[in-house]
Amino acid sequence: MFDSKVRTLCVVGAQWGDEGKGKLVDVIAEQADWVVRYQGGANAGHTVQIGGRAFVLHQIPSGILHEGVRCAIGNGVVLDPDTLFTEIDELVREGVDVEGRLYVSDRAHLVLPYHKLMDCESAASRTIGTTGRGIGPAYEDKVARRGIRVQDLRHLDRTRALVASGVQHANAQLAGFGSERRADTESTVELLEALAPRLLTLAEDVGLAVHRARQAGAAVLLEGAQGSLLDVDHGTYPFVTSSNTTSGGAAIGAGLAPTSIDAVLGVVKAYTTRVGNGPLPTELDEPMASAVRELGKEFGATTGRPRRCGWYDAVVVRYAARVNGLSGLAVTKLDVLDTLDRIAICTAYECDGDVYEEFPGDLVVLERVVPRYEWFDGWKQSTAGARRLADLPAAARRYLDRVRELAGTAISYVSVGTRRDQIIGLD
Ligand code: IMP
Repeated sequence: MFDSKVRTLCVVGAQWGDEGKGKLVDVIAEQADWVVRYQGGANAGHTVQIGGRAFVLHQIPSGILHEGVRCAIGNGVVLDPDTLFTEIDELVREGVDVEGRLYVSDRAHLVLPYHKLMDCESAASRTIGTTGRGIGPAYEDKVARRGIRVQDLRHLDRTRALVASGVQHANAQLAGFGSERRADTESTVELLEALAPRLLTLAEDVGLAVHRARQAGAAVLLEGAQGSLLDVDHGTYPFVTSSNTTSGGAAIGAGLAPTSIDAVLGVVKAYTTRVGNGPLPTELDEPMASAVRELGKEFGATTGRPRRCGWYDAVVVRYAARVNGLSGLAVTKLDVLDTLDRIAICTAYECDGDVYEEFPGDLVVLERVVPRYEWFDGWKQSTAGARRLADLPAAARRYLDRVRELAGTAISYVSVGTRRDQIIGLD
């Protein structure tokens, strides 16, 4: 993906998350010098399969599994310092060399125990079906200008006052939720005092470090989390996460100029999934939903929740192609469809006699739309061993051709299994 023109590449999910970004980032990171996460936090679960081992990375960029690649957590991420160290320690136990090449933006906001408490106790979080990782409350504090940033830990005397104000707000919220649970300043300060020395060794002005690396010719991969339809502005609001998951958020969240992004790769599954509540126009009925869920092992990497499954939705992907400025698509999990007799692609929605070829912003419409499907014969043979486009059955190639045509975006990769080598590069 990197060449003389493309030095900074952004990888985004073009559906509702869980598209297989972890695997794509892992494959592309082989050619990268830096991999930067730019939004979200421990709500993400990027699974990378190496040999017989599955690594699930929540906050650390998937590039960490490549020796020598520098990895950074950008200012746009809300960082849970406690679980960051659990993740680092697990990687080190698995023989992955982490420290010395992992950087954390000194401007990143912290997710503290009271954010997780608020996320778990609020009825609004339950309605949305959040991951309970404190993401929404931490971003709320950031925007309300009462957040605590990594660099605040350099001044622990000031931090105590910030924590006290965060706790006071959290407790007022918890009381408003009707919860009897309360946050506590002392234990939060103690946690931060314990974590600060180790966290500060990772703290860096990530935007500046990546800028300098770019000037020296480095290949930089910006790793998105969640998916475009979970973007707080462009997604199915309010059933979204609290950050800008799309490529526009990459510049802000990595601390780079928008003009520094040379290309954007959108990752899509060959079908659609969503975890949590909110509209999913192509959602399958039983027993097909369970069949696809089992075939695709569609259970959340972070929460273990069963994912809702649907046919490939070209309206969604065309929309994602537009708002992200996609320069290429990576179609993942094609092999999951190998045994199906018939496969559908949604090309438009219908609602009250109107036809929607563009993704509507109105949730009331979205909840009622009926997908218009185009049907394809299944290929009924394994694609898991395919390494070139020509290895794929003709029916699978027809399916992919239609995906490309409807997205108006070239396909750069097709993934046919969880392993690193189960990928077809089309550039
Ligand atoms: P939050 O990000 O935990 O606030 O959850 C908000 C919504 O985003 C919920 O519907 C979650 O299920 C969804 N979500 C958050 N992170 C992910 C992810 O990594 N993959 C898929 N869905 C996610």
